[in-house]
Amino acid sequence: TVGMSTNIVWHECSIGKLERQNLLMQKGCVIWITGFSGSGKSTLASMLNRQLHCRGHVSYVLDGDNLRHGLNKDLSFKAEDRAENICRVGEVAKLFADAGVICTASLISPYRRDRDACRALVPDSMFIEVFMDVPLKVCEERDPKGLYKLARAGKIKGFTGIDDPYEPPMDCEIVIQLKDGKYQTPKAMAEQVVTYLEENG
Ligand code: PPS
Repeated sequence: TVGMSTNIVWHECSIGKLERQNLLMQKGCVIWITGFSGSGKSTLASMLNRQLHCRGHVSYVLDGDNLRHGLNKDLSFKAEDRAENICRVGEVAKLFADAGVICTASLISPYRRDRDACRALVPDSMFIEVFMDVPLKVCEERDPKGLYKLARAGKIKGFTGIDDPYEPPMDCEIVIQLKDGKYQTPKAMAEQVVTYLEENG
């Protein structure tokens, strides 16, 4: 097909994933954090990486908002562009995990099929989906960037939760919930994920 890569050949590298894992003394994986804007994805990703780092692990965060400044700066928020955004980040996360890194991807990723497509890129035990189970009302009250206010005023169109859909996971590895109606501390949220990682090798 015109515009598609043809006549390409896959090259095996002389160093494989297992050898990299042995050197780093860890297994690479993808931790995929999904949830509304303002649900605490970036906060969790940041603290989780701090905790992993302190335990001697190599980790890296792929943040949706940040990647939209570079790799994904050509993409809008319409459904097909969100799909492309998530697909690209899924492919990058796969490379990091293959390199032996514990890679945290933090994106709204509102569509189940887009998240499932990323899951399908790596062996199932290497994909850990984390759902920030925070009601829209709470995210909107927090509104750290003032974007919900703009969306309600009609100044941002197609804002997730306001006039654009969000499909929560039906069966994911980790659910982060509020405690007594309030956000948990970043430390408590990160510890929940670290515990899962430890318990699942
Ligand atoms: S997605 O849906 O996964 O492609 O989104 P993502 O790449 O994670 O980017 C989300 C951040 O973009 C800002 N923003 C919007 N979010 C949702 N809907 C619309 N229309 C929109 N426009 C801008 C917003 O700051 C999101 O940041 P987070 O970190 O999620 O709060």
